[in-house]
Amino acid sequence: MGSIQGAETGRPDVGPRVALDLTVNGVARHLEIVPWTTLLDLLREQLDLTGTKKGCDHGQCGACTVLVDGVRVNSCLTLAALKDGCEVTTVEGLAGPEGLHPLQAAFVEHDAFQCGYCTPGQICSGVGLMNEGHATSAGEIRELMSGNLCRCGAYPNIVAAIEQAMHANEGAASR
Ligand code: FES
Ligand code: FES
Repeated sequence: MGSIQGAETGRPDVGPRVALDLTVNGVARHLEIVPWTTLLDLLREQLDLTGTKKGCDHGQCGACTVLVDGVRVNSCLTLAALKDGCEVTTVEGLAGPEGLHPLQAAFVEHDAFQCGYCTPGQICSGVGLMNEGHATSAGEIRELMSGNLCRCGAYPNIVAAIEQAMHANEGAASR
């Protein structure tokens, strides 16, 4: 297996390795990593899944949000080795054979991005929010998405996109 090159992490990639099995976007992966590898660096540098963005690398911006067993996490704060056996979904894994995930389609429809840097994290976080099932209003979406920052200020469109996908999801669930 390839190693973390350390170009982006600034952390050394030498030392003992630990074995790790993950399912990433539906594909089983057996990996060997240095124990301090974050899930973010593993995804970007070892698996070339660069859709997930590194913003602050300190848990403050949400750009690195992915889903682990359906739950949204900041991958920059998550040690990959602690997720052995888990299922990881990144923005690259959300679309299905029938096309974009409904939230991805809603982001396009509502023009919910400008530079796009925060978008993968916003979308993964939005899917996690829908999985949680706690938000019932635009205000609650805003509150529960407050960990995902957008320097372009696309917040009204992001909330509108999530609201649309959330209600479409409820409609589908009740049919
Ligand atoms: S890069 Fe992880 S929260 Fe900012
Ligand atoms: S669209 Fe530019 S940071 Fe959100």
